[in-house]
Amino acid sequence: MESIFLKINGQKVTCPSGTTILEAAEQNGIKIPTLCYHPDLKPYGACRICLVEDQKTGRLMASCVTPAAPDMSILTDTPRILNHRRNIVRLMMAEHPESCIVCSKGNRCELRKIAADLGVGDSGLYPMPNYTPYEQVNPFIIRDLSKCILCGKCIRADHELVVTGAIDYNHRGFSSRPATLYEKPLEDSICTFCGTCVSICPTGALSVKNTRYVGTPEKEVNSICGFCGAGCSLTMGVSGDKIVEVNPTKRKISVNGATLCMRGHFANDFINSPDRLTRPMVRSQEEEQVPVSWEDAFARITTRLSEIKRKHGSESIAFIGSSKCSNEENYFFQKIAREIFASSNVVNGGYASGQKLLLYIDDRTHGSCRVMPLADLENAEVIFVINTDPEQTVPVAGYHIKRAAKKGARLIVVDAFKTDLTALASVWIRPVLSETIQYYASDIINALAGEMIKSGSHDNDFINQYTEGFEPYGASVSSFDAQEIFKQATVPLAAFNQAFELIKGRKIAFVVGADTLTYPDGNPLIDAVINLALLSGSIGATGGGIYVPAIENNLVGAMDMGTVPDRLPGRESIPSGKKMGLDLAAFIAAAETGVVKAAYIMGENLLRSFPQPDRVAAALQKLEFLVVQDILRNRTTQLADVLLPGAAVYEKHGSFTNMEGRIQTFEPVAPPPGEAKADWDILAQVAKVMGHPEQYPKIEKIRQEIRRKVPMYQGLGNHHQGWIKNNETGNPFLSSNAKFTLLPAFPVVGAKSAATGKRDAAYPLLAKITSFRFHLGSGTRTSRSERIRAYDQKGEIEISSVDYRTLALNGAGRIRVKSEFGEIERECKQNKYLSAGQVVIPMGVNHNDAMHLVGLTQGEYPDFSGQTFSRVMIEKI
Ligand code: SF4
Ligand code: SF4
Ligand code: SF4
Ligand code: FES
Repeated sequence: MESIFLKINGQKVTCPSGTTILEAAEQNGIKIPTLCYHPDLKPYGACRICLVEDQKTGRLMASCVTPAAPDMSILTDTPRILNHRRNIVRLMMAEHPESCIVCSKGNRCELRKIAADLGVGDSGLYPMPNYTPYEQVNPFIIRDLSKCILCGKCIRADHELVVTGAIDYNHRGFSSRPATLYEKPLEDSICTFCGTCVSICPTGALSVKNTRYVGTPEKEVNSICGFCGAGCSLTMGVSGDKIVEVNPTKRKISVNGATLCMRGHFANDFINSPDRLTRPMVRSQEEEQVPVSWEDAFARITTRLSEIKRKHGSESIAFIGSSKCSNEENYFFQKIAREIFASSNVVNGGYASGQKLLLYIDDRTHGSCRVMPLADLENAEVIFVINTDPEQTVPVAGYHIKRAAKKGARLIVVDAFKTDLTALASVWIRPVLSETIQYYASDIINALAGEMIKSGSHDNDFINQYTEGFEPYGASVSSFDAQEIFKQATVPLAAFNQAFELIKGRKIAFVVGADTLTYPDGNPLIDAVINLALLSGSIGATGGGIYVPAIENNLVGAMDMGTVPDRLPGRESIPSGKKMGLDLAAFIAAAETGVVKAAYIMGENLLRSFPQPDRVAAALQKLEFLVVQDILRNRTTQLADVLLPGAAVYEKHGSFTNMEGRIQTFEPVAPPPGEAKADWDILAQVAKVMGHPEQYPKIEKIRQEIRRKVPMYQGLGNHHQGWIKNNETGNPFLSSNAKFTLLPAFPVVGAKSAATGKRDAAYPLLAKITSFRFHLGSGTRTSRSERIRAYDQKGEIEISSVDYRTLALNGAGRIRVKSEFGEIERECKQNKYLSAGQVVIPMGVNHNDAMHLVGLTQGEYPDFSGQTFSRVMIEKI
């Protein structure tokens, strides 16, 4: 790009052409005040505070919207400019209510700061405050638009960053204000309560509703969100030793920029929950959990686990880690299991919700989808979203997809259920469910691949150079009959043709649900996606590749650190001759039969997050000894023989690896409550009392070991951010086994209908049990947020209009939903976007009772901890 030269305040500066005067000044350390400008938003030029003067022409210009031109001579703070700025601020103040002293924006109000900097204490004008009603019914956001200065930042953030469109200008002139459609309250609009507009508002017009008065934070500390796998950077406000406020990061580089979602913004108040565990406890002879010292708790663990190991062997002890704990903690947890107790039984809660899928993709793509920056989606030409609703589960990934679609990327959605992305999709392929529990996504994708080969629009060079198995694969997909598949899926063939036109000859970015393997056609589906990605040369290409939105914050890191039954740290295979560990369902079965006698559970509330909670409770009760290490009192902690209080993410050092493969370290923001300790510290002390020769007094010692033993994590802890290494060469196309294999495809339509059809008469409806934005997964932490609780989420069961009528549910209020595994009762409501036979049951609410409806293993899929679907019947109560 061409460089231009100009002068600002007499200083010679250079900048690329197209740079605004404001940016050129900032790049050269010259400060110009702003109110409506934000680096992540399109320049708007509303407030005029950034006025500068062109010395040659004498013109005053808003520097945020005026491009720098060669040979300009710009002045930024002459008496004339200052006078204009003062007048602008005086006019704003004349319209502003005189409530600065009680305004929750406090010392962070940008208008007040600019007024003070300019020496404006009093407007000196006749006050004309523009009073508007104070809106604060919802528990998250207070809108006091009397304080609005019409900078438009909230509206632009809503449109450009989170792409929701909940607010826009309403009325004109003096009455103009940001408002929802028909000026409805936020809670009745499409607002997602992401809070992005609140963080970006320069005044107290938008503020966070706190459940109790917290004042201006005394300090701000950076951290990483502990909820989903986007891994957003946060800046947390702290007063005393309490976290009282959360905003998007002030760091320059992050996955989320100026955005957050409602969980990151508002759900972190679980940290101050009265349910926090604060002291180690052991079960007494009277069967009560009583507080003890850490030494006594460790002594009980050592004695009991050593006894059980001696009597029943190493494999009688199972270790259940957590994809919510840090890399260091997961590494150390599997080390304790494998090295100290010599047990292969190590797994974590994320194994059933994505890790198995990630490992499969990793193997088939030679590690070339390990690093998938979300920002690259915004360069994609075509985004293919299959069976996932990232707007609900990993909202910041959803923002990237929506921004890409706004910039012109064509979006193809394959989903039987309407998602938040379908409105932006160029094509929504919506397979209607047949009589059986059946999806057609794999057949649809294979049919598209067949068409690509027939028309010669695949990437021949890529195929020839980097793949093997093209002939048999090509023959298999060419036999897929698109017409027949779409007829069976009751999708118009036009959708197929449209989708084909969009992908033809293009690189494709695939976004695939982390729960794909819990779909009945999960395995053929992921094979179909990988094959199509190879066929189109999308692996390793800009704007291509396979993204898996990780529902939990450290899903990737826990897997990389080896708390999975079939891999060692660094995704290394278990050496031949060594045993693989039990997966989650097998662990419960082994506890039921008495094969497993003891378990150490870290950071996983199995009785809330696992299917069939009563069965899981009975299995845990059969154990001779159970250690639980966690942060919040819950149903699982009640069963512990030894209960260890851990520190939450914001109270300890650690690192997480997000869904992009970005490794981010974090430091404590506040101290843990009572005697609680960081999980890595607790584990280091368990290792010590078990006689491990090495000591780990600092997290750095664990990081050194990870850096040594896990080449993918060579840079861990050296910087605040880094990326995992793609593979041993860093480039999949240069690795020794560079040929990617195209696997032949087999049709799924009808193949499994006989087995699944048997249950249909008794359970005629198909329920999708799904996460939604207010709760992360099972909701153990989000349900402790006072504000989320106050939002009155009943988690109504959604039923199609057809079934609503057929079942005569009108005015039913509560209904009973039964599956072969259990039953629940909740309120119900109609959802006009559902097809007949479809039911949606939100997770996280009502103690996550939806888990009563799903099985730990599902008949014909023995390794399928399928929490996504259940066949159900509905009764009016
Ligand atoms: S509410 Fe805040 S961000 Fe929105 S226009 Fe008014 S002052 Fe600007
Ligand atoms: S909270 Fe989020 S969705 Fe709601 S208006 Fe603000 S930016 Fe838009
Ligand atoms: S998108 Fe995920 S990581 Fe980001 S704020 Fe929301 S829950 Fe946290
Ligand atoms: S900051 Fe430039 S016009 Fe507002």
